Parts: sequence; structure tokens; C-alpha cells
Amino acid sequence: MAITVLPEMPADAGELSIWPASTALLPHGALAVGGVPLAEIAARFDTPVYILDEGEVRERCRTYRGAFPEAGVLYAAKAFLSRAMVRWVQEEGLGLDVCSAGELELAVTAGFPPERIVLHGNAKSPRDLAAALRLGVGRIVIDSPSEIARIAAAVGPDGRQKVMVRVVPGVSAGGHDKIRTGTDDQKFGLSLTDGGAHHAITRIIGQPQLELTGLHCHIGSQITEVKPYLMALRRMVGLMARVRDAYGVLLPELDMGGGHGIAYRHGEAALDLTALARRLRAELVEGCAAAGLAVPRLLIEPGRAVVGPAGVALYRVLAVKHTGEKVFVAVDGGMSDNPRPALYGVRYAPRLIGRRSTAEPRTATVVGRHCEAGDILAEAVELPGDIHPGDLLAVPVAGAYHLSMASGYNLVGRPPVVAVHEGTARLLVRRETFEDLRNRDIGG
Ligand code: LLP
Repeated sequence: MAITVLPEMPADAGELSIWPASTALLPHGALAVGGVPLAEIAARFDTPVYILDEGEVRERCRTYRGAFPEAGVLYAAKAFLSRAMVRWVQEEGLGLDVCSAGELELAVTAGFPPERIVLHGNAKSPRDLAAALRLGVGRIVIDSPSEIARIAAAVGPDGRQKVMVRVVPGVSAGGHDKIRTGTDDQKFGLSLTDGGAHHAITRIIGQPQLELTGLHCHIGSQITEVKPYLMALRRMVGLMARVRDAYGVLLPELDMGGGHGIAYRHGEAALDLTALARRLRAELVEGCAAAGLAVPRLLIEPGRAVVGPAGVALYRVLAVKHTGEKVFVAVDGGMSDNPRPALYGVRYAPRLIGRRSTAEPRTATVVGRHCEAGDILAEAVELPGDIHPGDLLAVPVAGAYHLSMASGYNLVGRPPVVAVHEGTARLLVRRETFEDLRNRDIGG
């Protein structure tokens, strides 16, 4: 990554390896992303605030297109969605993966071509399906047997909808139990091993309203190794061959989902996209040749790896408390804007910005402002010993599954999203105000 480091700066530039490539260390401890000093953003937009580096998002889209030139790359909107994000993804030539009427509507009303959108969901509501059909979504991924008749009926006698089938290939992968989806002990998909997937495929092929374009799997999230993908791909190709043998049907698409892991702290492993692309392609070509299948078009659905490292969360320190051996640094956000440490035990690397400290580092726990002891943003991190109220803390790799998973806990309101690009900052999503919160409560 191209980090700009001024010569007199401390030797911690390696720590910036997980920050956006545009990150620059400036004199006096200031840090800029996208050409904008973060302290300036705090002053202009207040805190807490999410910052998104537009150039970094676009560059990551391009990296995917470059690594997977023959594949369809669908950005997984659940990681983060806004109208600007929809535009960037579209301009960079990606498709979109959505999992609700809400994500779908936002994308289509922002101008995204519906035929380039895939709809997922283990329990699609009538509203989800109605929106998908009304807006002309490209593909619906069938996740349970009951959806087959539901979608066929909703399409009507003269219609035809492209669908895929979500298959559980029996491969366990992912950064935490809650985000492993490749085996039969979780709610998503239809089993390869118990014949559920094959049975669903048989029924779909018998439905004239449905056009089965291919198979889908998503084995998990925050996966840092290529191997599980290869194993899953082999099994998916095997199922494609069995479908061909049983029905003479050649499925033209194979969607291998997302889940590409990233580093949240300096030194952590990330999935090697180039290796993934090369080895997936080789495995696909080889497997298809061995089975006598034409090579299907590969689709992938990265979310986190597109937007995660492009985001930074910025907080202001409200209190510093010394309790026994512990130092608690409390900031003006917390589990309502980042539930990930509490949910998955993810460890982040907050950093003091806006001033240079020469104080000895001290181990501290960065906590939020919520009424819950589990409201911890970062456990056991090294921060300057003189950290005090009014200081700014920045948390890198905050672009994915932060705002999209933010809650209304304690009615603090969700933070705004500010885009930085080539030296300018602009608001993409405004802060949720008390008025917003009160207006929803009609007082009845
Ligand atoms: N495709 C499907 C069908 C998915 O279910 C997901 C994520 C993705 C693609 C994108 O996965 P990604 O490339 O972003 O890992 N809230 C959790 C992550 C949940 C992922 C759910 N599905 C977290 O904060 O880590």
C-alpha cells in the first residue's frame, strides 16, 4: 500500500498497512485520509462519524475486476449500502447482491440496473419477492423448498424468472461460528449431502415459470484461505455434472459467494485475491474438463473486502477512568455503531489522532457510551498514557458491517457517513437526529 510517510514521523508506519492507501501521516500527529485531515472531519461533521475513502472503494472494485476478468463480481450490499456506494459500484462495473426489499429498492432507485442484481435471503418476505418481481431483479437465489412454488406462483402463467439454488456444500470456513455457512448445521441453503439441493433442482427444472441459471454457495465470511473455496467449488461442479446426467440440463452459472477475509489489525492474515482467482479458475477448468462440462460463468460476491478497509470510524474520548489495574477510555460511540467486537470478538486497532503524544504507551480498554458492560470497542490496546477527554480516536477497517449493523440502542442516533476523495470531504448519509427518532414514535 502506498502510505505517505514524512521523514520525521515515528516508526509506526507499518501499523498503517491496514489503513486506506491514501492515508498520510502529517506533522504534529495529524493523519489524513483521501487528502483530508481526520481532525478536520471531526470538527466539521462532529463525532462519532464514519469516513469512507471513495478512491479506496473504487480501487478495490478495480482490483476485483482485474483479478477476475472473466467472472461477474457482485458487491454484497449488506456490508454497506448508500446511494453513492451504489453509484461507485455501478461505475466500476460490478453487479450487486442484495438480501431484502430495502437494499433492492435503495439500489434500483439510485439507478442501479436491476438485471445486474441478485436477491438472497433464507426467509424472503412477500414484500421482498414482490419488490424483486416488480423491479425486475436479475436472479433470485432459492434458499428453501417452499420458495419454488411461491416464486412460480408470483411470476404468473406468462412470466419467467431467472433463479439460482443456494447449495450447502459441506465445507466449514469463516472467522467465527456465527458467520460459517458452509455446513448443514446452520439455517442457509439446501444440503448437498442429504439430497435437499438435488431435490429442489429437480422441482425447479419442472417449473416453466422458473429458469435455473446455476448454483450458488456461500461457505462463510472472513475466510483467509483459498482451500475451502476450492473444496466447495469441486463439490459444486460435481453437482452440476449430476444435474446434467439426470436431466440433460447444462447450468451456465456458478456463484461461489463472498467471504473474502481482510486484516483488522496490522499483521493479521487476509485472503490473497490473486491466488484465489488463479486457483479457482484452474480448479473450475480442470473439474469441468474431467466431468465433460462446459465451463460455467463464475460469479463472486465480495462485501467486506470491497468496503471494509476503505472505512474509518472516528470517535471523541469522553472519559478516562483508572479502575484497579485497568484503564478505560470511553468514547462517544460504541456497540450501537459497531457491534462486531461484542458479536464476534473482533479486535480492532484504534489510534490517537490529531495530536502527537510522547507519553509512554499504556494498555487500555476502549469502551463505548452505552448502558451495558459488554459495550467494548477494543480490548487491551496500546494507547498513549496521557490520553484524555477531548482526544480523537480513529478506528481503521470500519467500512463493512458497521453502519449496516448499527442499532438504535439508547437512542443515541446513528453516525453520519462522510466520503473523502482527492482532498475534499462530503456528507453521504447524515447523522440520525433526535427528531428522526421521535418522528417514528407516533405516540399512540
Ligand atoms: N454473499 C452472501 C450470500 C452472503 O451471505 C454474504 C455475507 C456475502 C456474500 C458477503 O460476505 P463478505 O464478503 O462480506 O464476507 N456481519 C458479519 C458478516 C456477515 C456476513 C453475512 N453474509 C460481520 O460483521 O463480520
